[in-house]
Amino acid sequence: MSRRMRRPCSLLVLAALLLALCGCAPGRETPTIRVGVALYLQEDTFLSTVVQSLEQLARAREEALGVKLNFNIADARSSQASQNEQVDRFLQQGCDVICVNLVDRTAAAVIVDKAQAAGVPIVFFNRQPVQEDLDRWDQAYYVGSKADRAGILQGQIVLDAWQKNTAALDRNGDGVLQYVMLEGEPGHQDALLRTEYCVKTLTEAGVAVEKLASNSADWVRGQATLRMQQWLETFGDTIEVVFSNNDDMALGAIDACMAAGMTEAELPFIVGVDATPPALEAVAAGTLKGTVQNDAAGQAESILDLCCALAGGQDAASAVALEDGKYVWLEYTAVTKENLEDFLPEA
Ligand code: BGC
Ligand code: CA
Repeated sequence: MSRRMRRPCSLLVLAALLLALCGCAPGRETPTIRVGVALYLQEDTFLSTVVQSLEQLARAREEALGVKLNFNIADARSSQASQNEQVDRFLQQGCDVICVNLVDRTAAAVIVDKAQAAGVPIVFFNRQPVQEDLDRWDQAYYVGSKADRAGILQGQIVLDAWQKNTAALDRNGDGVLQYVMLEGEPGHQDALLRTEYCVKTLTEAGVAVEKLASNSADWVRGQATLRMQQWLETFGDTIEVVFSNNDDMALGAIDACMAAGMTEAELPFIVGVDATPPALEAVAAGTLKGTVQNDAAGQAESILDLCCALAGGQDAASAVALEDGKYVWLEYTAVTKENLEDFLPEA
């Protein structure tokens, strides 16, 4: 049964459970679910979309369940030490569930142990803990998307374009695809696997590729602009494709090209990941050739489903499609001008 089909029934069960747990009868005091959300960096474009969706969906859920959902958001500003303190505070404050977007995805063990000691279920998201840390406790979960999939879909966008009109991409006509790679934060699963799989998709399809340069720009638009400026100085218009691990950095590359005086027709073939609103605008404008939707709303919905279930003492598997008892995986989807309409917000 799909997640969507299962929900109405589990919502009723959950509402009853929550009321029973809180010892409240309908019409008396509204039961409250307290959720601590610890973010690695609140200003991250993708994560701010996840949080926005979470807050929107929570309002609807409050009405449906007759509960209050209190989200307490903490910004670690890229410091794991700060995040550990924020988690301590959430646990002291008596949160029913904590959601953690790790700063350092290899540092989950201490957080899992704290949550387990306090008996508070924990939902990691977007920054995937290593398996052995997640395995420390059966009440630790992860919501995310499979990083290699984003790379494959990004590679397919480029492969499609190459196969449809090789001459348009292969500007120097040498039969080889010259590219640069803008990487996310070192060590992030999405940076590592998107980088590997986008290129693999092309080489496995028999396309000869040449990497001109690659570097991390930490997911950040401004940093990507600087990298791209340097690459434009070194390689000029021999750059045929720009692979970017996310949209913000792809937009940064476009900024650099525009600042260098390139026309839209002169831009290399630039692709990103996330399908953020400004990236979708760039796809519409033709400056960004494609992106891969990182399902922020879907991740938010799964996080919320898990939080409600776990706070009510329900089985996680009754609320979400769980894999290996721990993982909720959302699908990535390729976005180009052809299917852009499906991703634009409704007017
Ligand atoms: C997104 C990036 C984001 C990163 C943060 C990735 O999944 O694609 O845009 O900066 O997560 O962890
Ligand atoms: Ca070429």
